[in-house]
Amino acid sequence: MKSKLVIGNWKMNKDFEAAEELTTAIQEAIENINLKTEVVLCPPFPYLELVTDMADESNFNAGAQNCSQFNDGAYTGEVSAAMLAGMGVTFCIVGHSERRKYFHETSEVIAEKVDRLIEQEIIPVVCCGEVLEERQAGRHFEVVEAQIKEALFHLSKEKFEHVVIAYEPVWAIGTGETATPAQAEEMHKFIRTLVEKKYGTETAYNSYILYGGSCNPSNAMDLFTQEDVDGGLIGGASLKSGDFVAIIEAAETAVNEN
Ligand code: PGA
Repeated sequence: MKSKLVIGNWKMNKDFEAAEELTTAIQEAIENINLKTEVVLCPPFPYLELVTDMADESNFNAGAQNCSQFNDGAYTGEVSAAMLAGMGVTFCIVGHSERRKYFHETSEVIAEKVDRLIEQEIIPVVCCGEVLEERQAGRHFEVVEAQIKEALFHLSKEKFEHVVIAYEPVWAIGTGETATPAQAEEMHKFIRTLVEKKYGTETAYNSYILYGGSCNPSNAMDLFTQEDVDGGLIGGASLKSGDFVAIIEAAETAVNEN
């Protein structure tokens, strides 16, 4: 089994002091471990410098939660991919369901953000996932397929190889209701097959497909031992160092046991 990727999405949480405490606690917990798992912390923009500075001397990476689809110019309130790259950010979440819902992000905008990030050599972590009604109507595969094709399938194979996909069923985000390992695996396999049809077997195998949605220390191991689950995008549980480190440990164990 290939090594895992575990990304913490802090969303709009923590004050500066708490952000510093959390980053320090994670740093101290993992600094002496020879980790196979790649760890990324995605704080809110104002704490990115804190995290990029600490990431320089640590075995985790700094990620952003969003970026602009534009290069530069009169776009008040926006942050460009080039600005993030200049700070040492190496990952960026794109198309999270909260951005689609509250900020009306369309697939077209998400595809543009992916392009801006790849131009700056930042790895886009592109989110997809169905809402509850779509799953209940049996439309989840169709919805996820459309989201992936629209956000990513304009990319050349070479560029696609720099992308991470995160499957996050919207009904599982922040609700405490996790997809079962079988539900996650079924969708992850479906996504990998889509990638294989478009970009070939090797690219599909090497692609990272993360699960997100109420992943926590008690269910992480069962999710991460699924063949096509390459790690997790962690929201609520990334805000507590103990929980987040336990999830990283689950990722390490899942790889070592297989
Ligand atoms: P959650 O969030 O782990 O709190 O469900 C995951 C996410 O939204 O990335």
